[in-house]
Amino acid sequence: MAALFGVLLMAATPCAAADDDPGRAQFVRSCGACHTAERGGANFSGPNLFGVYGRRAGTAEGFGYSNTLAKADWTWNERALDRWLADSRKGHPMAEMAYRQPDAVKRALVIQYLAKMK
Ligand code: HEC
Repeated sequence: MAALFGVLLMAATPCAAADDDPGRAQFVRSCGACHTAERGGANFSGPNLFGVYGRRAGTAEGFGYSNTLAKADWTWNERALDRWLADSRKGHPMAEMAYRQPDAVKRALVIQYLAKMK
């Protein structure tokens, strides 16, 4: 019985431990359907995010943004990204990205990862 319990515990351990970069793992899980973040990565339905941290919004090469981002006058710093990921349509009702991540820890993981990708 004790041995069986041990096996069950091991099976329940999250496999995120297999990826040594939890920020990358969180990015792939939360954003990977619409974004890449490596240098030269493709634009999917959302733009490639390499170098987005510290860059002016709406300026990824070759991506057709909504007017909201095409005419944006802000730079993607930690605060701006955190608000965007908490609720991308809050204050930007016409943004083409509809996304909400209520978990501040998950937002921070993704933002740390993006800050490294430049
Ligand atoms: C369902 C698809 C989708 C998902 C999921 C998604 N995005 Fe987006 N994202 C978009 C689209 C589309 C745009 C362009 C929005 C516009 O033009 O209004 C965008 C734009 C952005 C921008 C602005 C880029 C720039 O150059 O100004 C950032 C930053 C961003 N997304 C980050 C993220 C992150 C980080 C995640 C995951 C936590 C995420 N997105 C999840 C579709 C998505």
